[in-house]
Amino acid sequence: MPYPQELKDYIKQVESTRPERVERKRRGEEFASLSLDGREERLKSYHPDYKDDALRDIRVGVSKGYGISPEIVDTLEARSRIDPDRIEFDEVDHEADVLVIGGGGAGGAAALMAAKQGAKVIIATKLRLGDANTMMAEGGIQAASKIHSDSPYWHYLDVMGGGHFTNDPDLVKTLVSQAPKVMSWLEGLGAMFSKDPDGSLRTMHGGGTSRKRMHYAGDITGAEIMRTIRDEIRNHPERIEILEFSPAVELILDENGVASGAVLYNLDTREYVIVRAKAVVMATGGSGRLHMRGFMTTNHYGATGDGLVMAYHAGVPLVFLHSVQYHPTGIVFPEQAEGLLITEKFRGAGANVVNVDGEQFVYEREPRDVEAASIIRECSDDMHKGVPTPTGKVGVWLDSPMLEMLHGPGYVRKEFPGKYILFRRYNIDVAKEPMLIYPTLHYQNGGVEFKPDGATVLDGMYAAGEVSGGVHGENRLMGNSLLDVTVFGRLAGESAAEYASKRDLPSGMNLDHLRKYHEELDKTGIETERVAPVILPDYTNPDVKERQVVIAP
Ligand code: SIN
Repeated sequence: MPYPQELKDYIKQVESTRPERVERKRRGEEFASLSLDGREERLKSYHPDYKDDALRDIRVGVSKGYGISPEIVDTLEARSRIDPDRIEFDEVDHEADVLVIGGGGAGGAAALMAAKQGAKVIIATKLRLGDANTMMAEGGIQAASKIHSDSPYWHYLDVMGGGHFTNDPDLVKTLVSQAPKVMSWLEGLGAMFSKDPDGSLRTMHGGGTSRKRMHYAGDITGAEIMRTIRDEIRNHPERIEILEFSPAVELILDENGVASGAVLYNLDTREYVIVRAKAVVMATGGSGRLHMRGFMTTNHYGATGDGLVMAYHAGVPLVFLHSVQYHPTGIVFPEQAEGLLITEKFRGAGANVVNVDGEQFVYEREPRDVEAASIIRECSDDMHKGVPTPTGKVGVWLDSPMLEMLHGPGYVRKEFPGKYILFRRYNIDVAKEPMLIYPTLHYQNGGVEFKPDGATVLDGMYAAGEVSGGVHGENRLMGNSLLDVTVFGRLAGESAAEYASKRDLPSGMNLDHLRKYHEELDKTGIETERVAPVILPDYTNPDVKERQVVIAP
């Protein structure tokens, strides 16, 4: 639906302050960024992670006592979907050198690199290949590719600063130093990034960056990267087998406790499927569809944190899950698009965030957590400066039309085709009318502990992408997730292939780790009807939900 009259009236306030705001920007007078103390204070007072009930201790498993989002704790304290005594390994359905669990950017990159090393690869994915958060990522991928103005050194400092210097330095070093190589790899595979007329890659700022190093493909960068990786996977059917609609539900270990495959569940035939593999790459993505603290989410439908649960059952510790990323600019109206991402690239290009009076209240390129906390504050009862929506929510404006004044007519449509088309469906022209936004659950900052080569404490299991934790510390900066999935996906794929090349097909496959986990749940007195991995969100259409895996068999 187009904006109703009451919102059009509010928009007049934004229009009344716009010429002055644009003029200030042209003079180079930016809104003052918060001091470090100011940022800290803003986070403590308004960021959802700092609320009293934001964290709950896990009561079982290797990270027992670690306080993380209660919604994730619930999945860890659930029972497995399968009864280990009722799964048999006499007949194996598929065999591979490397089993990649997850068909997004990290899984895809891992599969390609493992196959390049000569491994026979299986990708098991919950929905279709490419149905993943990578596909939904909009704004860009960071890489210090402009050697005259940038270097991995500056990129490193930005990543560490964005993460409040809590990040694992080795992981960050790997991320930033591999970044230019990954850009060349993607371009070589055919990814079409936005370029200047001289053929050089376009770059711009993201929040918290000291250099313009965000490369992009309009506002559909993730879709372009995923398309490229998916096409390349399909070029190698002789090496890479794809099992779609086949979520993994548990890891399988061998008699020495080494990862040796997984139990999958075929959502079409409703059968369990056993895959035996010499190495496993866990690349299941994030958990936004658990809707931490009831927040709307940008995440893909399948983002239910399954890899965290499977890896945890097998003894892999969890790190940095105490911090959750809320993207500052989620759509809060129209209702049909609620929660969807509006890329940070709008703010990178200079769009102000303004309140009900049309006043700018925060520098538009603060690090994400600070920007989100500032928007929550503006809409809170302390400030009362939010815009009420016809659906009973509240938001603030992202002033996209000012970009037409700053960069020239046609800029919004050209640079943001995805959002332009989306809003046109509701008869809203974002080149002329601002967008109503509120923070939306976006990214799992933490995950399973891993090393730069993808290795985890579980022999034979490698991790890459959003399921893993440590790269971004307590706050990821824009454009470092597309980088993360490609850098660490590639490395995990190579390492897994290398590991597989030194191992025979495993024997003595078992689910003993699950038995132990269930025993620990019982001993701790945790009685629950819940089962995990979650696989599909709670509000899945009943016809579809009925297909969802039940406790086996
Ligand atoms: C965005 O475009 O703002 C999201 C991309 C990201 O999270 O890196």
